[in-house]
Amino acid sequence: VLYGVVLAGGTGTRLWPLSRAGHPKFLHPLTGTPASLLQATVDRLDTLTSPERMFVVTGVAHAAAVSRQLASVPEENVLVEPSPRDSCAAIALAAAVIARRDPEAIMGSFASDHLIADKAEFASVIRKAMAGAQQGLLMTLGITPTRPETGYGYLQCGGESVDGPVLVVEEFKEKPSYEVAESYVKSGNYLWNAGMFVWRVDVFLAELARQQPQLASGVSRIAQAWDTAGREEVLGEVWPTLPRISVDYAVMEGAATVGRVGTIPGDFGWNDVGDFHTLGEVLTADPAGNVIVGRDGDVERPTVLLRDTENLVVLPSSGRLVAAMGVRDLVIVDTPDAVLVCPRERAQEVKHLVDELKELG
Ligand code: GDD
Ligand code: MG
Repeated sequence: VLYGVVLAGGTGTRLWPLSRAGHPKFLHPLTGTPASLLQATVDRLDTLTSPERMFVVTGVAHAAAVSRQLASVPEENVLVEPSPRDSCAAIALAAAVIARRDPEAIMGSFASDHLIADKAEFASVIRKAMAGAQQGLLMTLGITPTRPETGYGYLQCGGESVDGPVLVVEEFKEKPSYEVAESYVKSGNYLWNAGMFVWRVDVFLAELARQQPQLASGVSRIAQAWDTAGREEVLGEVWPTLPRISVDYAVMEGAATVGRVGTIPGDFGWNDVGDFHTLGEVLTADPAGNVIVGRDGDVERPTVLLRDTENLVVLPSSGRLVAAMGVRDLVIVDTPDAVLVCPRERAQEVKHLVDELKELG
């Protein structure tokens, strides 16, 4: 059996103005159904785990919304961070809390901001990864790359198979430069790291202790106090001292150099919903290539009127009518207090707009 851990952190600034600090992307129904990304992530695990083995790690600002969206997950399984300290601290906290319940548990860590089209294939890949985890490997899921994306991690797979479908990862390189990413994609020997991990909690915590002793001892102190009256005090004291680093840099890169990382190559329609352009690529388009996000699911039943448009991504969420005519390749996002219009090909740059806005105050 699997313990499922869903990381619900980060705001997703490339999805501004929809995704805000107060209402981050995982709470939004960006799935083409009424389910939010977070709900879809939990639903997708239903054949692999049970609600009492589902955990969510989220920030104090979103804990209530997370519990509201996930009625089946026991409230004590929503682990609340006092402040964001990136994915390594969040994952380590979950691993340490689970280890106290079941020291040899296998846990899967899942990002809350991915779309996965083929749930059955996904479950089958996770089962294969669990077999690799049982043998003591830190398992990743490998996606065949289609472009030199610099925001992902890359897995070099020599093709050496430890057992059945499990490949040993010879190098784990997080967020390479454009040139390096390009050479990886050309070489054909690299897969994208899907950002989901499966491992035995004891194996992960040992690797954490080896590479990140401060994080490991801090999280172990917190876990020891977790079920006691002293939890808040220890959390308040220790959490702010934990290194702010992602699990990819903190553990995975170094674990690969000593042969402890494995991967299962998977083709389950994976998409990291990073920006409005990529979102438009995965949702169903009309014959002219226009995608209206939330058309079938959004409770507000928004209205969009398009005449002679092509290849638009339109997201109406203000309740107002959005009309467009004679334009193509645009992103149009309407929210109650901000409107975004930009070319699809520049959707990645929205995060710079957000930086600028922050500077303006
Ligand atoms: N609870 C919590 N607290 N979750 C966090 C925090 C935090 O402080 N920081 C990040 N997360 C969660 C995010 O919500 C997301 O679900 C996951 O951790 C990954 O964080 P991102 O910030 O989205 O990472 P990334 O997209 O840059 O890179 C990761 O994912 C790529 C695939 O999408 C890496 O694993 C890459 O190697 C991978 O290719
Ligand atoms: Mg991400």
